[in-house]
Amino acid sequence: MTAPIVDVRNLSVIFGDFYAVRDVSFRVAPGEIFGFLGANGAGKTTTIRVLCGLLPGSRGDVIIDGEHFTAGRENIIKQKVGYMSQRFTLYDGLSVKENFDFAAALRGLSRQEYLANRERLLRFIGFKESLATVVKNLPGGIKQEVALCVSLLHNPKIVFLDEPTAGVAPVSRNRFWRLIKDLAADGKTVFVTTHYMDEAENCNRIALMRAGELIAVDSPENLKRQTFGDSLYNFTPRGRVTSIVADSDMDICEPYGRHWHVKFKDGVNVTAALKKYKADFEIEKIQPSLEDVFIRLVEGQNR
Ligand SMILES: Nc1ncnc2c1ncn2[C@@H]1O[C@H](COP(=O)(O)OP(=O)(O)OP(=O)(O)O)[C@@H](O)[C@H]1O
Ligand SMILES: [Mg+2]
Repeated sequence: MTAPIVDVRNLSVIFGDFYAVRDVSFRVAPGEIFGFLGANGAGKTTTIRVLCGLLPGSRGDVIIDGEHFTAGRENIIKQKVGYMSQRFTLYDGLSVKENFDFAAALRGLSRQEYLANRERLLRFIGFKESLATVVKNLPGGIKQEVALCVSLLHNPKIVFLDEPTAGVAPVSRNRFWRLIKDLAADGKTVFVTTHYMDEAENCNRIALMRAGELIAVDSPENLKRQTFGDSLYNFTPRGRVTSIVADSDMDICEPYGRHWHVKFKDGVNVTAALKKYKADFEIEKIQPSLEDVFIRLVEGQNR
């Protein structure tokens, strides 16, 4: 990797004696769309808060755009990062303009820089409403797009988006991801969390977190290949069959609605193994999705 713009080394965040983040290391390249996935409580938001300079790590090193992160240097880091938080994005009772004004004041932007950046960002998202619109009256998708603009107002190199599309309608989610891709194409580094696996396919690389630990970091393609090889099968029950008896040849046998996704162990003669099931199931070879990877690596371990 060229010099990373985010370099996290052995980061732990400890609350009392609870490790919210445990010994996590990863690097993000400039211009990358880096996805952060994990079940609720995995430690995603906590990690992001450290990387934005909002929470000190308990152990380890964080280097953002070449700057070491140590107490008292938070403001250097804050210049470099934008943050769209998970729960709070904009003040609902204020107008769009007032939200921008407030962010500009917090960031200490000159009036000229503020207005030029606001204009450019609103053009970027194709904002058609009035600046006087009170945020609570904006459609949910537009609200999130305005929140993205506010997080980018000081023109940071890196932007952290914590579940920016949660609860947003599918069409608006697609629009939002178009914006993410445009930002990355323009050289910004985008660090994004989501619970939507279809969205995660758009990331260049993905980090999977489970119970505070990082369990995999790779491209969506590599994660799929490493987890499933090239042999995942979909079993659809025929007729009255309602269950499957997994045998010792199977490495994976996960229920998916009324189907099962099956992978055989390495070295198993798959043709012979499949024969046993052909009477009861319609069987087709399928391409694994990130959903399969997630269930296998993140949720499968908790069962
Ligand atoms: N200030 C705090 N004090 C104590 N525990 C905390 C604190 N902040 C977070 N935690 C705990 O740390 C763990 C990780 O929380 P975090 O919010 O980082 O998870 P997450 O991966 O973002 O989850 P979600 O997908 O629900 O947003 C959780 O068990 C949470 O309860
Ligand atoms: Mg979170």
